[in-house]
Amino acid sequence: MPKQTNRKNEHVSLSENFYKDGDSSFKDIHFVHHSFPGINVADIDLSVSLGEMEFSAPFFINAMTGGSDWTGKLNQKLAIVARETGLAMATGSISAGLKHPEFANSYKIVREENPNGLVFANLGAGHGPENAKKAIDLIDADALQIHVNAPQEVVMPEGDREFDQWITNIQDILGNIDVPLIVKEVGFGMSRETVTLLQNIGVKYIDISGKGGTNFAQIENFRRREKKLDGLESWGQTTTVSLLEAMEVQKDSHIISSGGIRTAQDIIKSLALGASLVGISSEFMHMILTDIDTAIDRVYEWKLELERTMTLLGTKTVPELTNTDVIISGETAHWGELRRIN
Ligand code: FNR
Repeated sequence: MPKQTNRKNEHVSLSENFYKDGDSSFKDIHFVHHSFPGINVADIDLSVSLGEMEFSAPFFINAMTGGSDWTGKLNQKLAIVARETGLAMATGSISAGLKHPEFANSYKIVREENPNGLVFANLGAGHGPENAKKAIDLIDADALQIHVNAPQEVVMPEGDREFDQWITNIQDILGNIDVPLIVKEVGFGMSRETVTLLQNIGVKYIDISGKGGTNFAQIENFRRREKKLDGLESWGQTTTVSLLEAMEVQKDSHIISSGGIRTAQDIIKSLALGASLVGISSEFMHMILTDIDTAIDRVYEWKLELERTMTLLGTKTVPELTNTDVIISGETAHWGELRRIN
């Protein structure tokens, strides 16, 4: 088996092994309860639009996998969940599929199972426009995610060591594709400086994917046989901190929240902090490793809980959630105070 495809299998099994280590920053976010909602459950509309993209619910299955036979089967299951629930879905990095055409089907299956759904392709920022177009074409993608994962690469034994072309690559891709481009982190969060830089080059969709769920420094450090880099396992900003950072500088871009999202309350808190959409990865993987129906049922439970919580908050539409009364405590509040005076 090619090294790259073996790594794809390891990423899934290690993320599942470390699943219990997730530490949500959403415990720092609290809604103020008011006794008169002033609206009815029937008034709630869960749909959101980001530019030209329309979503029936404000959350989606975020990038994970593909690139081997086993992960192709997992992608198929995730695609069935997406199709049955109407959720959008991203594949994992298609890099392995471009390098090893025998594994292209492990990505294509996502489109085959869900011909009418919203599907995103995914590639690393080391790639240029040519590969970006190939990745989009492979699955007839509705959008392209470019992931930025420097902490993962430096800890990964066989990872990239050169990052000086990343921004130029993203600019080139942006000018050469005709679907929306989403730049995403992979669980290390973003700073306001990063969000500003991306906005300045014209990126309109930014997934801050913060710390609190899957931890790729931990996963790659585990994969190292020697010269461990333990100190980097706590690198990065949490999802709630990243959202606060992004919102401080957000202009015309749409901010997507991901990293450690496991409950409907995490979703709605993300939206109240200003996210336009919420991405969920390891929680979906955790469920489909058991069975597809568990995941489908959970999506309907989350939708129900979102509707009921929005009713309590008196917000008929998702964008209105940013007007709700939110209290920020703990480490998230502390970071906010320190960053304001710096
Ligand atoms: C990922 N993630 C990811 N992201 C990406 O942009 N391209 C990729 O190929 C992958 N691969 C991948 C594999 C596995 C097994 C997992 C669990 C995750 C990162 C993912 O999209 C997300 O940013 C982080 O996992 C944080 O979200 P969760 O897992 O805490 O919900």
